[in-house]
Amino acid sequence: MNIKIYDSVDLLYKEAAAFYKEKISHQPNMILGLATGTTPIPLYKKLIKAYKAGELSFKGITAYNLDEYVGLEKGHPASYYFFMRDNLFNHVDIDLNNTFIPDGSIEPNEAIKKYQEQLDTVTIDIQLLGLGSNGHIGFNEPGTPFESHTHMVTLAEKTRKDNARLFEKLEDVPHTAVTMGIKDIMRAREVVLIATGKNKAQAVFGMIKGEISESLPASVLQNHPNVHVFLDQDAASLLLNK
Ligand code: GLP
Repeated sequence: MNIKIYDSVDLLYKEAAAFYKEKISHQPNMILGLATGTTPIPLYKKLIKAYKAGELSFKGITAYNLDEYVGLEKGHPASYYFFMRDNLFNHVDIDLNNTFIPDGSIEPNEAIKKYQEQLDTVTIDIQLLGLGSNGHIGFNEPGTPFESHTHMVTLAEKTRKDNARLFEKLEDVPHTAVTMGIKDIMRAREVVLIATGKNKAQAVFGMIKGEISESLPASVLQNHPNVHVFLDQDAASLLLNK
């Protein structure tokens, strides 16, 4: 793992955006694996800025997202479909026909089959990941087999609580989601994981220094040959102490 710890969150995102700009300029038709949650938002903001400044184009980019809640209509403001349009796609020149997200509005088994078929046709060049405070990646909660492909998950209560801020109230947070599996994530050529804040410190420590175990899904990344981890001081705090 290539681990970088930044003094400021702003510098972290500047460097992460520079990383993407450089990669996309060399390979303008790359296939990106994208993520939702609060972690990628500052990165997307910087990429939008770069696009508006004429430094970057998404015209040739294809994007696959990690996951989606089950049972939310596409227009629901907390759906990841909505999130991606609101936070990135609507502000850059990406062809929306080349953007793929599991469909949370249809029967889950159908959504899983459809998404896996789409994923199986490609190799993701760079998969972006945030990190759940319990070590989940995508919505692969602790205990998910490392061999998993796209599947439906029951969200951990911790995850529902962590994500409740994006809903009106906790009861509105769906109990299930469809996520790309760990095996699918590991198939990406390169992985970028960003984590900031003290509430990620434990998961970051486990991911990097802990044993590789399904009880901390992100620890599987120790087995990936090309992972870039961007951390702020808070997220890295346990690594620095020990
Ligand atoms: C959600 C998403 C994950 C994300 C995680 C962390 O559960 N499914 O992909 O990495 O939350 O979220 P945040 O970035 O808001 O801390």
